[in-house]
Amino acid sequence: MIDPSSYYRGRVARTYEATRQGQREWSLEAEAVETWLRAHAHRGDVLLDAPVGTGRFLALYETLGIRCLGLDISADMIAEARAKDSPDAELRVADLLEPTSLAPLVSDLAVCLRFANWLTEEELERLAIALSVLTRRRILLGIATSRDSPVDIAGARTHVERRVHDLFSDHLLFHEGRYPITAGRGYDYALWLLRVGS
Ligand SMILES: C[S@@+](CC[C@H](N)C(=O)[O-])C[C@H]1O[C@@H](n2cnc3c(N)ncnc32)[C@H](O)[C@@H]1O
Repeated sequence: MIDPSSYYRGRVARTYEATRQGQREWSLEAEAVETWLRAHAHRGDVLLDAPVGTGRFLALYETLGIRCLGLDISADMIAEARAKDSPDAELRVADLLEPTSLAPLVSDLAVCLRFANWLTEEELERLAIALSVLTRRRILLGIATSRDSPVDIAGARTHVERRVHDLFSDHLLFHEGRYPITAGRGYDYALWLLRVGS
């Protein structure tokens, strides 16, 4: 199994976007992110993109007048994002599962894609805590879920949907809808719309 905290380096980082750009999921995610931002973001908002990876949405954030705070554990992925030369983005190397590396950051909105399924349930809870502490209003989270038990998906694993709802609501993250991306292989992959707070 891949260790996501060390895998995205060197050639993997340099070729990350090129190897994914043809994927249907890649473009559906981009459409969903744009639709969600147009509905919920205001000019001048701070958006936490974590993990930001190569910063594939930085141009969109600039267009919408959103200031991006992008965090990623991989210096090489951050270097790819910095090469996009996005003046309103602040890009930093940070471990999302290590709260002391994150304080005292704060954002209005957060986007978290292609990360949750690399995590154990215990790590998912740490991510939920980090996102709920760092974000004031809303979060868009990509997650593949299955009904009764975890399912293997391309080296990663689904989370059990009911457990995710319970775990998120314990940290005041409330599901208010989703953008479906793929379904029908024993799991659903969707971008969940989460509201922060009661
Ligand atoms: C599949 S990529 C997703 C990047 C981006 N969100 C996207 O959708 O293109 C997973 C990213 O998670 C980062 N990552 C892995 N573990 C991390 C951690 N503990 N804290 C922050 N970033 C991490 C990797 O460096 C990599 O850039």
